Amino acid sequence: MSHEIAEIREHFPATLTQAYLNTGSAGPLSRPAAEAIEILNRRQLHEGRSNFSIYLDEYMPMQNRLRGQLARLFNADEDEIALTLHTTNGMNIATWGLRWQPGDEIVTDSHEHPGGLLPVYAVARRFGLTVRVAQVALSDDDEALIEKFRRAINARTRLVSISHVSWKTGAVLPVAEITRIAHAHGALVVVDGAQSGGAIPIDVQALGVDFYAIPGQKWLCGPEGTGALFVRRDRLADLNPTFVGYPSHKALDTEGNFLPAAGAKRFEMGTVYWPGIAGLHASMSLREELDNGWIYNQIGQITATCREMLEEIPGVVVVTPPAQSGLLSFQMEGVKPDEAVAKLVEQKIVIRSVHEPDLLRVSTSFYNDEADILRLRDALEGIRSL
Ligand SMILES: Cc1ncc(COP(=O)(O)O)c(C=O)c1O
Repeated sequence: MSHEIAEIREHFPATLTQAYLNTGSAGPLSRPAAEAIEILNRRQLHEGRSNFSIYLDEYMPMQNRLRGQLARLFNADEDEIALTLHTTNGMNIATWGLRWQPGDEIVTDSHEHPGGLLPVYAVARRFGLTVRVAQVALSDDDEALIEKFRRAINARTRLVSISHVSWKTGAVLPVAEITRIAHAHGALVVVDGAQSGGAIPIDVQALGVDFYAIPGQKWLCGPEGTGALFVRRDRLADLNPTFVGYPSHKALDTEGNFLPAAGAKRFEMGTVYWPGIAGLHASMSLREELDNGWIYNQIGQITATCREMLEEIPGVVVVTPPAQSGLLSFQMEGVKPDEAVAKLVEQKIVIRSVHEPDLLRVSTSFYNDEADILRLRDALEGIRSL
């Protein structure tokens, strides 16, 4: 496939009708994904959904190929990947799965998303745990952040729950260093990868983390209802499957004894939406054709261009630290984020606001071009002079 951005945009039709700069909320669905979903929907309509040979000859191999693609994305092995419904699903599986004792502690930070935070607070309430929250400041560099985690983690910490990329500020967290501190205290680490999965390289070997959850619908441009959880093979024994079903088990006897499925598949349960699996598989194939390394590089370049252009606008302060992913968050003097988002939508420019702190957030990915960013810059200048 060509690396010409104009040609790549043809595969993401939503990028042709607007300046689509909101992949962090939901990626533009890729044309191959939409087609794969439609084809399978049509086949299910006309051929029925329970033809055993389709299941064995097509669905299962397709699911295994997808597992392989996701394993390559994580630099993990296929048996360390559970297919999930979204990031939050993976965060829940990891957070609920530990064998909690009253008095255990969880460490997280003040910029986490509810998708990771709510499972933390829910297990804390259910099992009588203490949650320690590292208070993040916009001015924190890696050293400051690491120091805050160092102070929060202690011998009672069982789990550290953090994002790889902050959904609020776009900061790339020093996950490897925080993991080293956690492990030195006997704690495990779960990563919310909603804003990193597909946007920056993920190497779970180098990061050392235990669990890592990603969505299919954001930076991977797959359908909703898809995602993945990496579970390090050595941690399988530490993680109890909280919810189980047909795919989770290898054997079940009449006494109720059961053997879990090998590997991370034991965290999967029930029937999946096969067109969705086909859709994510198609989006991943498109990415692999382009080459994931090329994609990360392209995201780095277009995001750097976006930062430069935003910083040219008087009154704009980009708060994202220099080590960035595909998210840039900024403040604009005299402009309320929600109002700016609404005005931009009128001009077919899609970004979003976040709160606490109040910021505008722009997402740039490999199908965005300079024209998208120029449109955003010009529109923001127009809003400023109103
Ligand atoms: C950091 C972060 N975590 C979790 C989520 C929730 O993602 P999902 O809908 O895939 O569970 C989001 C989505 O906006 C996010 O930005």
